[in-house]
Amino acid sequence: KSSAMWGGRFDAGPSAVMEAINASVDVDRRMAEQDIDGSLAHAQMLSETGVISSEDAAAIRQGLEQIREEIRAGDFTWSAALEDVHMNVEARLKAIVGEPAGRLHTARSRNDQVATDFRLWLRDACDRIDAQLAEYQKALVAQAEKHVDQVMPGFTHLQTAQPVSLAHHLLSYVEVAQRDRGRFADARKRLNESPLGCAALAGTAFPIDRKMTAKALGFDRPMANSLDGVAARDFALEVLSAAAICAVNLSRFAEEIVLWCTRRFGFASLSDAWSTGSSIMPQKRNPDAAELVRAKPGRIIGSLTGLLTVVKGLPLAYSKDLQEDKAPVFQAIDDLELALLAMAGMTADLTFHGAAMEAAAGEAYSDATDLADWVVRELGKPFRDAHHISGSIVKMAEKRDIPLAQLSLDEMQSVEPGIDERVFSVLSARASMESRTSFGGTSPVRVREQVAAWKARLG
Ligand code: ARG
Repeated sequence: KSSAMWGGRFDAGPSAVMEAINASVDVDRRMAEQDIDGSLAHAQMLSETGVISSEDAAAIRQGLEQIREEIRAGDFTWSAALEDVHMNVEARLKAIVGEPAGRLHTARSRNDQVATDFRLWLRDACDRIDAQLAEYQKALVAQAEKHVDQVMPGFTHLQTAQPVSLAHHLLSYVEVAQRDRGRFADARKRLNESPLGCAALAGTAFPIDRKMTAKALGFDRPMANSLDGVAARDFALEVLSAAAICAVNLSRFAEEIVLWCTRRFGFASLSDAWSTGSSIMPQKRNPDAAELVRAKPGRIIGSLTGLLTVVKGLPLAYSKDLQEDKAPVFQAIDDLELALLAMAGMTADLTFHGAAMEAAAGEAYSDATDLADWVVRELGKPFRDAHHISGSIVKMAEKRDIPLAQLSLDEMQSVEPGIDERVFSVLSARASMESRTSFGGTSPVRVREQVAAWKARLG
């Protein structure tokens, strides 16, 4: 038989495959709460504007609240024949309250309904992610606070570069997480407009009050163009973009956790709670969660690329293609939320091995820049010349496989006669770290200020 909702001009029902390709309820039922909220606001507005009676609105309200309870309790029977979350809810409403249910869809289409639900769902998602990013930041700051004076090698090209404070390293991820929060906040601000009342595409002849529904649903304003209201999906693309960037940012620290927990680095370890074993190698402790966070951008970027591709070239206004928007978004948000929880958990869990970090920080001539800087400061040489002098001294030390500080003064003076014994005071990883007191630099003096600023900011 044909659809009870739209079957008036049909004689027969859809083929099984038609029904299968058309149904979205398995995916969009995740928006049931938002769908009910949207319908409650719409029904209330219809009654206040006199489009439906207050008795009908009351019946609709009662029925919708009952449906909400049924869904929460897991007592709701979802039907693929009813296509999507919207028609499942409406059909159930009809079963509960009868005739008034049929008045709910006045001055509304599933096109504005689904856009409304989706915006509400994404708004909640942005809020959850913001809170999770804040938790991740707090975990980073808590570790940073304990390790301001811990020196470690800073890398460029993954080659030992200059010594840095472990806290400085961790706080760099707090900064990027703050920008991620900013991206979600921007997306949230722009998506928080109401499409409800745009109806199918052209608006409606009924005397509705779109400001009223927008306000009731916490939107900043109704969308000003009905075609745009039902056709736009850039709001979802924007959240997905923020999610993809955030996932990529997380993957970088995840990769460092993987590296640091290797025997080769030996900088850190994860407890049993964040490690897994091997089914064949009894000795193994693997950082699977960090590896999975490293991998998540694959799926999340895939979601973004997928939805960009669906929306590309779609003419106005609504096309059924747009039904393919929910699955990639839900997938990406689920993945990102799990990744954020895992990163916050692992960050708090990490034990750092200070001696190994400090030893590594002093290796590989990480104090060569400090030597060059000393030559500039004390001997008045141009930096380019000082760079060359330091490089020659490094070459000499490298030949003997000893650190700079173990060269004799004579040896250094053979390269640059002006060098005197004061030079030794700058030749250590710790001295190097402590000397970098410029704003934003790694000196513990500066880093302590940053820890305090973040603690105040994150509350
Ligand atoms: N399930 C649809 C979606 O997710 C709802 C809108 C359907 N609109 C329509 N004209 N068939 O996009």
